[in-house]
Amino acid sequence: MAGRLDGKIALIVGAARGIGKGIAIRFAEEGAQLVLADTEVDAGQAAAAEVGAAFIRTDISRMEDAQKAVALAQERYGRLDIIVQNAGIYPWQLIENTSPDDWDRVMAVNLRGTFNAARAALVPMKAQGYGRMLFTSSITGPHVTSPGHGHYSATKAGINGFIRSAALEFSGYGITVNGVEPGNILTEAITEHRGAEFIRNMEDSIPLGRLGKPRDIANAFLFLASDEADYITGTTIVVDGGQLLPEGADFRILPP
Ligand SMILES: NC(=O)c1ccc[n+]([C@@H]2O[C@H](COP(=O)([O-])OP(=O)(O)OC[C@H]3O[C@@H](n4cnc5c(N)ncnc54)[C@H](O)[C@@H]3O)[C@@H](O)[C@H]2O)c1
Repeated sequence: MAGRLDGKIALIVGAARGIGKGIAIRFAEEGAQLVLADTEVDAGQAAAAEVGAAFIRTDISRMEDAQKAVALAQERYGRLDIIVQNAGIYPWQLIENTSPDDWDRVMAVNLRGTFNAARAALVPMKAQGYGRMLFTSSITGPHVTSPGHGHYSATKAGINGFIRSAALEFSGYGITVNGVEPGNILTEAITEHRGAEFIRNMEDSIPLGRLGKPRDIANAFLFLASDEADYITGTTIVVDGGQLLPEGADFRILPP
């Protein structure tokens, strides 16, 4: 059976672990040829070896790094069809304890990184007259939030605004621009930063009864990257196990 991304060249930023690595595995299964980019060299190289990809150390907050990652895809494969900008940081920090430097760092990775990825990928995609730009947003920011995520929420809401603007500006070039809004996904970062109790409470608040897996998010990205999404641009898909649905905490109680 043909892969849904056969012959496609994809650059995935923030792919050394977690959701980004899940996207790399899923895209490779469907026939894409990959370049993985991340600040973490050892984990990034290991992930790349696992999926037969090239790896480049990239800090996506730096435009020069974004351009080098795009150039590697072009040098190696001659084109770039898909870019996924998934790198993101989510330090837990109340607003009253957030310094201007803390604020700027989250903006630099999550939001400027989004702009850098799009700006760098635009060059080959515009020349080809084809491109898929994909971004990892979140339900946190566009829809909900929790204490300690002021900067993070601002970036993820900002990414959704950027997706709409870029989709409109690039629509004449054969480039679509979309995103995925994950709910709570069980990645190494979540297990490192949150305790078992947080995870149990979270499971209770998710109608489908579990946190998401990187593969759940990767499947939505796969759809948006595939030819099946040819007519979709400027939007996001929520993948959250129904977490946004309940009006109140008693949602499991059925009417008599
Ligand atoms: N895990 C969740 O529940 C969840 C929910 C909603 C959204 N998200 C978003 O999904 C994305 C991935 O999250 P995750 O949970 O897999 O996190 P993670 O920390 O496991 O993975 C993030 C990856 O990005 C890399 N990275 C960080 N800063 C970078 C930079 N400046 N340049 C390049 N790479 C960089 C990290 O090294 C890491 O490999 C993030 O954008 C995050 O905001 C995660």
